[in-house]
Amino acid sequence: MQDRSRHLAFSVDLCEYDHVEAILKEVVTKLGKIDGLVHSAGISATLPFKMVNNEKLAHFFQTNVFAAMHLTRLAIKPAYLSEKGGSVVFISSVMGIVGEIGKTLYGMTKGALISGSRALALEYAPRKIRFNCISPGVVETPMSQQSPYHKDAAALKRIVSLHPLGIGESTDVAHAVTYLLSDASKWVTGSNLIIDGGYYAR
Ligand SMILES: NC(=O)c1ccc[n+]([C@@H]2O[C@H](COP(=O)([O-])OP(=O)(O)OC[C@H]3O[C@@H](n4cnc5c(N)ncnc54)[C@H](OP(=O)(O)O)[C@@H]3O)[C@@H](O)[C@H]2O)c1
Repeated sequence: MQDRSRHLAFSVDLCEYDHVEAILKEVVTKLGKIDGLVHSAGISATLPFKMVNNEKLAHFFQTNVFAAMHLTRLAIKPAYLSEKGGSVVFISSVMGIVGEIGKTLYGMTKGALISGSRALALEYAPRKIRFNCISPGVVETPMSQQSPYHKDAAALKRIVSLHPLGIGESTDVAHAVTYLLSDASKWVTGSNLIIDGGYYAR
């Protein structure tokens, strides 16, 4: 049975950078130093490029990239991260490695997580901090349910057909997260684990 005393929940806007460190301090004080971090928060949009203005670019990069890097920079401070090292996992997307019409904005931010985590993997290997990405295909969540293809039967059929094993469930991604946080992946860093029901194999 899970030990509920080992769980804490906080609600924070990760783009409000000044509020993040106080939470890390509280976590470490109450539970001890961190040995794993998963950054999953993100926003998505499907927009023609002519509508991708600088304000949207800034908003998407702030949410999907800057906030992830800010949280990571804080969490890996020696004051918060275990002396034994740790594992950092960013939830990217197959849109970070393939193109799709209308996904310029979202795909650029997800690609940044993949390239950033590779460089971080090298820089922090001496401290035994591993950095990896997971790149899911379409997973049934509130994000995908709000996508334009969900409101159009033909578009949804096309999206499903692009995934030979069908649309994913959040547990499909969660199992990959568990692996990357665990010692089963202790020799894995700088990788991008594609969990997509075969989307990328096409
Ligand atoms: N679903 C898919 O098909 C799919 C595919 C590939 C990759 N992904 C990635 O998987 C991750 C999880 O997505 P999901 O499908 O679970 O989407 P979701 O249901 O929309 O969840 C996204 C979460 O991110 C949080 N969030 C957004 N901006 C935030 C901020 N500034 N500060 C703190 N939290 C913030 C949201 O909180 P609020 O609800 O409070 O705003 C929400 O809980 C995302 O990074 C997404 O890009 C999803």
